[in-house]
Amino acid sequence: MDKIRIIGGTPLYGQIKISGAKNAALPLISASLLTDAPLVLKNLPDLADVRTFKSLLNHLGVDIVFKHDVDGDHAGALRAHSIQSTEAPYDQVRKMRASVLVLGPLVARAGRAKVSLPGGCAIGSRPIDMHLKGLEHMGADISLEDGYVVVEARNGLRGADYTFPGITVTGTENLLMAATLAKGTTRLMNAAREPEISDLAHCLVAMGAKIDGIGTSTLTIEGRDRLGGTTHSVLPDRIETGTYTMAVALTGGEVELTETSLDLIPSVVPALESMGVHFEKTNRGFKVKRQSDRLKAIDIETEPYPGFPTDLQAQMTVLATMAEGASVITETIFENRFMHVPELMRMGADIRVRGNTAFVRGIPRLKGAPVMATDLRASVSLVIAGLAAEDETIINRVYHLDRGYEHIENKLSACGAHIERIHESAA
Ligand code: UD1
Repeated sequence: MDKIRIIGGTPLYGQIKISGAKNAALPLISASLLTDAPLVLKNLPDLADVRTFKSLLNHLGVDIVFKHDVDGDHAGALRAHSIQSTEAPYDQVRKMRASVLVLGPLVARAGRAKVSLPGGCAIGSRPIDMHLKGLEHMGADISLEDGYVVVEARNGLRGADYTFPGITVTGTENLLMAATLAKGTTRLMNAAREPEISDLAHCLVAMGAKIDGIGTSTLTIEGRDRLGGTTHSVLPDRIETGTYTMAVALTGGEVELTETSLDLIPSVVPALESMGVHFEKTNRGFKVKRQSDRLKAIDIETEPYPGFPTDLQAQMTVLATMAEGASVITETIFENRFMHVPELMRMGADIRVRGNTAFVRGIPRLKGAPVMATDLRASVSLVIAGLAAEDETIINRVYHLDRGYEHIENKLSACGAHIERIHESAA
């Protein structure tokens, strides 16, 4: 298994191009199941999760060709002439929980879906009850069979009103896609408002769907008999944007992040400004630099968009470990999402976790150590920690990083970081 080796302490200078968003790419790829016409996706990130999802969609009957377009970006041409299988097998769903995103489109187009239950996952139990309740409201029958959930709507789905009892991102995406081919009008209330949902909705509209309320918590969808194809460019990854922003905030230096926008991280900008980080908009994105020698402490609580994203909580915890003063970080979305904490403590961090809150006392500097990556965002938080720590940090089990960060060591080393991948055979 590959490792990452970092010698910390070098400020970052230069430019980083932000990739297309993983969490937008996955539902957009799934939307190809809704039509027999071609869907072309530009600015697709070149990530392990995208490749895993491609093989699932191939299995369901979608022809997919990935290629580099003229700008050197990854693009995909997807076409589901017909649905060959309505089953998402355990082996696929186990690798990536977001595989559940095929549920809505399969039921809507083929009248049936059989999807392995996601089961436990490193950051909490992550059930899909809201996805299923919503489909039931739209006339689907739900049953359980050997660890699989079977959703059937032989005569098609019908429009319905559904109020989500809690905020769910992929749940909103599943029901939104399902509703585009249902008979009649669907109103989804208390829907999640993440930008990736709006990106999906805009693509669906370009495919012929009728959707009102995009970007709000009430989505109204008038079902259509069929959708057509389109060409759509995946929106920039706001979590990657926030991650590199925080890396620069911690190491010092000045970096321009391009092909992205400050508007994508509305709660992150004021939090970092209060810690002493300066932002400047540019034509292609924005510049980020730290204004003082040390960051100041911060209190944050994760929330659904537009609140502070849970996917940036681990990275923010790292910033708090080296900030001046005491910080309080509260995780409200997922249980068990402080698995980076013991690893950071091995690097000298002073952190106490009580329930869903981490109390962090800042120290002047972390010390490099061998650490273990446990999930996607925890892994990248260890990279940020290593970039700022004294001496050498070795991060083990980096396959998590490759699920969600495109060419991370190239992007960072182009800005002066001493970071390299050690392939197992060379380790
Ligand atoms: C998505 C993102 C993930 C991000 C998360 C929260 C993708 C592919 N993944 O995950 O990166 O961390 O949003 O911003 O977009 N829940 C239920 N029942 C359900 C559905 C969810 O109880 O039917 C709970 C979950 O356990 C969790 C909370 O609701 O506690 C939010 O989960 P959800 O928004 O569904 O996360 P994902 O869509 O899986």
